[in-house]
Amino acid sequence: MEKRLGATPAAQPTLLDAETRLPLRFLTCGSVDDGKSTLIGRLLYENHLVFDDHLAALERDSKKHGTTGAMDFALLLDGLEAEREQGITIDVGYRYFSTRRRSFVVADTPGHEQYTRNMATGASNADLALLLVDARKGLLDQTRRHAIIADMLGLRHLVLAVNKMDLVAFDEEKFKRIEDDFRTFAANLGFGTIRAIPVSARHGDNVSASSASMAWYRGPALLPYLEEIEVDDDRVNQPFRMPVQLISRPDMEFRGFGGTVANGSIRVGDEVMVLPSGGTSRVKQILGPGGECEAAGADDAVTLTLSDEIDVARGDVLVQPHQRAQVADHLAAHLVWMSEEKLLPGRSYLMKINHGAVAATVTALKHRIDINTLSKIAAKTLSLNDIGVCNLSLSRKIAFDAYRENRDTGSFILIDRYTNETIAAGMIDFALWRAGNIRHQHIAVTGAERSQLMGHKPLVLWFTGLSGAGKSTIANLVETRLHALGVHTTTLDGDNVRLALNRDLGFTEPDRVENIRRVGEVAKLMTEAGLVVLCSFISPFRAERRMVRELVAGGMFIEVFVDTPLETCIARDPKGLYRRAMAGEIRNFTGVDQAYEPPEHPELRLVARDTSPQDLADQVVAHVIKQIAL
Ligand code: ADX
Repeated sequence: MEKRLGATPAAQPTLLDAETRLPLRFLTCGSVDDGKSTLIGRLLYENHLVFDDHLAALERDSKKHGTTGAMDFALLLDGLEAEREQGITIDVGYRYFSTRRRSFVVADTPGHEQYTRNMATGASNADLALLLVDARKGLLDQTRRHAIIADMLGLRHLVLAVNKMDLVAFDEEKFKRIEDDFRTFAANLGFGTIRAIPVSARHGDNVSASSASMAWYRGPALLPYLEEIEVDDDRVNQPFRMPVQLISRPDMEFRGFGGTVANGSIRVGDEVMVLPSGGTSRVKQILGPGGECEAAGADDAVTLTLSDEIDVARGDVLVQPHQRAQVADHLAAHLVWMSEEKLLPGRSYLMKINHGAVAATVTALKHRIDINTLSKIAAKTLSLNDIGVCNLSLSRKIAFDAYRENRDTGSFILIDRYTNETIAAGMIDFALWRAGNIRHQHIAVTGAERSQLMGHKPLVLWFTGLSGAGKSTIANLVETRLHALGVHTTTLDGDNVRLALNRDLGFTEPDRVENIRRVGEVAKLMTEAGLVVLCSFISPFRAERRMVRELVAGGMFIEVFVDTPLETCIARDPKGLYRRAMAGEIRNFTGVDQAYEPPEHPELRLVARDTSPQDLADQVVAHVIKQIAL
């Protein structure tokens, strides 16, 4: 999780004396109306933990917006700052408060549709989950989902706050049933402690002090429980990890690597290793907020200087040579899907991990997790709020740890390369070594040398457009002319490829992504052979056309948009497919019940209206000849 992009402010002033116990970092979750803001608001209010100016504002706001006549505690937690950096939106507000016995950091994750996503962000930093349930409703899908996410994110402690007990007449039976249901469900999860507490956040029962209305409950009220619970934070004793966030080079003399120590500790003089490259050096200086220091440990934001000039980039991880992190470009991971757009295996996403970015593709979706039964369900995609397990292939090696060993260096997010939206949170399970053991084989004859023999440069000429737009017709004319001019060509055509290499693929979105991925790889091989490759595929999605463009690289990709309007294609209907699609006989038909995303900046746009296919082909040939001249 990118929680350190400034989302966690430095230590906040506390109102009361400092205490000896480790601060408790917890997160509130549960279904939207279960009352988490009211509960936290009540907790703060009863303990006089609200700063005066906040209180005045609260009274004012309660009159203005409050849903009840009395003070609305939920408003206390409003006004949460959204952190934005490079398109990453973190809607998690961190609240700090202290009692005489302990200090607390609450990650408050606003509700709404994006709840799961916010929760996953908040949980990555917490020790305990405070899971709310409405006593009237019992366990809901969202309750189970949040428990699973909390478990997956490595929270070892859970409090099940059964709220709104006043609305069920403080009925012990109701509470017991919810507790039993939850314990049965959570038996397969890995929580170390689970404590169920019946509360009424609205009226303050069992929040700070035990409630007279529920004498049958003999356990502690919420606050005393949170003050007492032991959560061992032994991150200082873990292997040293510092993801590099910033490289500062104010002058030629100084080169410092800034970041927050995720785990472990480091001293001046210690040997360090930079991963993934493996370069080593020693720590020369450690600079903290207060100046130079001898050592730094987990959570300290520092800048290190090293004794040797070694290559270090943002996203690299500093470790110690005897306790290295893993390095791989193929991983197994859990994903929490956070986007309305479904996961498409084969699509290239941006993975942000340890402050660095790398292109990542889901190569296999192994299964989805059923949130009610925790069973594994075969799946081709993940939708909003789904949790799944997959294999990922990265464009280069990265340094990381398994999430269960290190929550910082083992977590990542996936970003959509077009919208910049955060679409998934991920937890690395392990490196996949099989792929890691395959090395790129050096080949003696280069593409440039082959191209010399051909007498021209290679090229991918990518025709995209609706079915019936005229892609294949024009591509045929273009190839005939190029061939006559002595150009070495070949053609990959949608229907033909689907009859052979891709005969296992259909027309669902994931299958179209895979179709274009394979064709892109084949086209690339053919450019390496020195050919001009004409590809004609509907290729409806921008992301995959861009993927092929990036794959081929070196400006050898020309996108030709055969821009024939849908009505014209329907009128032509050369294969009778539109008629059948509109009659509902064929599903997922482009332009009928599946989208076509037109190119934004194609090199060539062909409009058939008043121009013959021959003339359009001439335009393409003229362009190609210029591009491939040696
Ligand atoms: S792509 O979207 O994956 O690029 P491709 O170009 O390979 O598609 O194949 C498209 C061809 O398959 C069309 O020209 C048409 O003849 C045929 N076809 C069959 N079913 C469909 C469908 N559901 N949508 C689009 N084309 C289809």
